[in-house]
Amino acid sequence: MTQTLDALFAKVTLLPVINIEREADILPLADALAAGGITTLEITLRTALGLPAIALLRRERPALCIGAGTVTDAAQYREVVKAGAQFVVTPGITDELLELGLRSEVPLLPGIASASEILAGYRLGYRRFKVFPAAVLGGTALLKAFAGPFKDVRFCPTGGIDQESYADYLTLDNVMAVGGSWVAPKAAIAAGDWAAITRLSRAASTMAAQR
Ligand code: 3PG
Repeated sequence: MTQTLDALFAKVTLLPVINIEREADILPLADALAAGGITTLEITLRTALGLPAIALLRRERPALCIGAGTVTDAAQYREVVKAGAQFVVTPGITDELLELGLRSEVPLLPGIASASEILAGYRLGYRRFKVFPAAVLGGTALLKAFAGPFKDVRFCPTGGIDQESYADYLTLDNVMAVGGSWVAPKAAIAAGDWAAITRLSRAASTMAAQR
């Protein structure tokens, strides 16, 4: 499981987190991100269009790697796998999700907010976690603190990370990638300002590639 996530993230240090509000935005938004150097995205299930967006992108933009985010139970996990998601991200953990992640052919990046939650996943074999909501929990200071007891664990912090802060996270050895919506802000999507999204993602992906 870790190996598969590691393979998917081998060259990926930036994970845009995308909420889809309008069907017509799906392809132009993905194209704007791809034009800015993005290869991997997380489409959340926060809107009803999340699931169809995953299926559409897998069909129409096969060069992109598409993960499903905000998956909160086993039924959703199965649905996103059926839609073609290549990895699954959860905001937190339950026994059900952790067990399904072990059995599924589609790897799970479980969300944690504490050392105890890391241990709950660790005992089952998980070594990669999303940290959510990263900024509120303490940001880079929290990740530095986790490096002490959890030497073989790497994280993808998301939640409250922006243009000003993402580079700081990428200086840390236990950060495999940073995630967030700052490269595709809600207002830019609503305005169909694809050029702005390409600019933001180009700036972030260029910086992230240099880590
Ligand atoms: C997530 O689901 O990972 C976050 O909500 C993304 O957080 P952001 O919108 O604060 O970047």
